[in-house]
Amino acid sequence: MQNNTFFEDSSPSNIIVFEELASTNDYLKELLSKVKPLEPNTVIMAKNQTAGKGQRGNVWKSEPYTNLTASFLLSPEKLDISNQFSLTVIASLAVYDILKTFCGKNIFIKWPNDIMIENKKVAGILIENKISGNFIKHSIIGIGLNIFQKQFPADISSKTTSLLLEIENLNLEIIDLVKKIQKKLEEYSVFYKENSDLLLARYNRKLFRKDKVHSYIFEGNTAEGMILRVEKDGLLQIEINKKLHKINLKGITYLV
Ligand code: BTN
Repeated sequence: MQNNTFFEDSSPSNIIVFEELASTNDYLKELLSKVKPLEPNTVIMAKNQTAGKGQRGNVWKSEPYTNLTASFLLSPEKLDISNQFSLTVIASLAVYDILKTFCGKNIFIKWPNDIMIENKKVAGILIENKISGNFIKHSIIGIGLNIFQKQFPADISSKTTSLLLEIENLNLEIIDLVKKIQKKLEEYSVFYKENSDLLLARYNRKLFRKDKVHSYIFEGNTAEGMILRVEKDGLLQIEINKKLHKINLKGITYLV
């Protein structure tokens, strides 16, 4: 590994870097309620996140000074809550696209928004929205991306990876990745307005295990299923026992 600098100090004014924070999502949420208005596309980044939050109430543990833990603010114009899945699409594709520029391996989006290199998770996304009436006023897109971590706790080590473990001669600065993701998110948040179907189609093309038979826990039993696609409302379409099911996150567990 050559010339890997974790963070530089001269970041744009709307990227705020902290030595230590409990959760970047929580900090950005607090900032939103106190400072009005915040700069568009503000990013809160922590070198050491001590109480990171994951999906479904899980914790997100990240080795200090090793990985990317940051929250990106998007303030969509008139995004109806019924279309909130588009934020998941935008966020997943933004991370996917940036990784694809320097990682030659297969990258997938595991529904709804885990980023996988081959069959291991390299990044997780936690989206928290601030709603006003029927609209999403602000969206906090929290991204945890494993970059330089070499070892993971035993219970997740077989299904988790980092860029360092996957890419030879990795040479990057975390702050550069943050800037690139910020820019991509900004671009997509404009682009999706006229092109949401196109982006969903793209998301579906990158879908982990799409059109392949794998094992899942479904309705309390192990079953063979084939993921077909994800719909606009964020439901997963999966064929199990020759029957099509549309399920939400609680409806299924992926087995290896
Ligand atoms: C997941 O469970 O896969 C989602 C993990 C999201 C973690 C990120 S790290 C930055 C941001 N701040 C948090 O507290 N969580 C998200």
